[in-house]
Amino acid sequence: MKKNNLTRRQFLGTASAGTIAAVSSGGITAYGNKKAGELAVLGGNPVRTKRFPSWPIIDETDEKSVLSALRSGRWSRGKLVTTVEERFAELMGSKYCLLTGSGTQALNAALHALGIGAGDEVLTTPYTFVATVDAILLEDALPVFVDIDPETFQINPDKMEEKITENTKAILPVHINGGVANMDKINAIAGKYNLKVIEDACQAIFAEWRGKKVGTLSDLGCFSFQTSKNLTCGEGGVILGDDEKVIDRCYSFHNFGRPRGKYMPRDRGGHPILGTKYRISTIHAALLDTQIYHVEEQTEKRSENADYLTSRIKEIPGIIPRKDYKETTRTAYYKYALRYKKEQFNGIPREKFLSALRAEGISCSWGLGVIEGLPINKEGLIEETLNSKSFQKIYSKERLNKYREQNHCPECDQLCEETMGFSGEFFIGTKKDMDDIADAILKIYENRDKLV
Ligand SMILES: Cc1ncc(COP(=O)(O)O)c(C=O)c1O
Repeated sequence: MKKNNLTRRQFLGTASAGTIAAVSSGGITAYGNKKAGELAVLGGNPVRTKRFPSWPIIDETDEKSVLSALRSGRWSRGKLVTTVEERFAELMGSKYCLLTGSGTQALNAALHALGIGAGDEVLTTPYTFVATVDAILLEDALPVFVDIDPETFQINPDKMEEKITENTKAILPVHINGGVANMDKINAIAGKYNLKVIEDACQAIFAEWRGKKVGTLSDLGCFSFQTSKNLTCGEGGVILGDDEKVIDRCYSFHNFGRPRGKYMPRDRGGHPILGTKYRISTIHAALLDTQIYHVEEQTEKRSENADYLTSRIKEIPGIIPRKDYKETTRTAYYKYALRYKKEQFNGIPREKFLSALRAEGISCSWGLGVIEGLPINKEGLIEETLNSKSFQKIYSKERLNKYREQNHCPECDQLCEETMGFSGEFFIGTKKDMDDIADAILKIYENRDKLV
């Protein structure tokens, strides 16, 4: 069935009870006896006036845990950090774990520990948060952008091999929007070309691929605990891995080059390698220690609500929710992402659609990758870094020019023109919250003629 030709039965099946009562023979007329009403943006009543659940959520156990850390006087990296690392590793199904001060630091330390550096190329996605690319560039390596899969918005492994050169050393897939990149294909390619794989799982805690948690499907997995994330302690990050030596290198790098397990440098190993300071504080770890126990239940709720919303909106012409691969056994829904096809909405630009949606009481943002109207591979930081002193010394002019010529990802460009996203915390509420979102979208669809 074509999306712009809903049958009466399908339409009623997707609409919330009591809201929509009339469907004309030729398609949707909607909101019959209750009347869709005037769009709020044109002076009508909004679909929703209530706020969505706010984020982050804390309770007494969080307060007690942080207070106890405060009172301990041990605010820098202390024993509690090690305890939380052990708990987290067990929970995730990984042998080793290192907490860091942020997800960006986790990614940077992971790349460093795996020996990625000057002259190397790392395959990654252009549809990501800037930190993924920063972490690569900070190691003086080149991020080589592989276009995305238009349905899942994840890096497209079928376009990976054409980008591999003798300088390719690693793949850095990002599990974007809480979905999961195609790890079977990525790991197969990595095996074939002897590449390291580091998962950027910052947006996807508790998402699963064939029943295994993301972040444990490769050499190293990195997460962020920044405030907006599904598990948060304000600012924080983590690296997961099964190779003790690699995690030890991560540890040393994150603690001024000091060997793991030796907190005082003098007489206990000193500083045999160059490092930096990427440590998490005990106060942040204390918050993580209690927040961690909410994630399972919240992830279930996010999934349940997101699935319901998808069932309500997937047949609306011009609204195409992001899909997951069949091997994805759990999605984390850090964001609920979709494509908005303006052609189906009488050409109404995305910004105007979003304003109408906000007026109905449903806040929604441009999707990821369009903060400056540009996907990451076209952001100024790339050219600025290519022109930096170190990059000019490391890479030949020819190599940099070739890099510029090949830095094109048309599928990602198109997605950035069309994508939109709802915040993940909307999904820890009720089914009624989902109905409001769906009803508002339907209302705008019904009244699209009036917005032109
Ligand atoms: C995909 C992705 N990678 C990396 C990061 C960086 O994490 P942090 O903000 O904790 O440094 C984020 C944070 O938003 C992210 O979304």
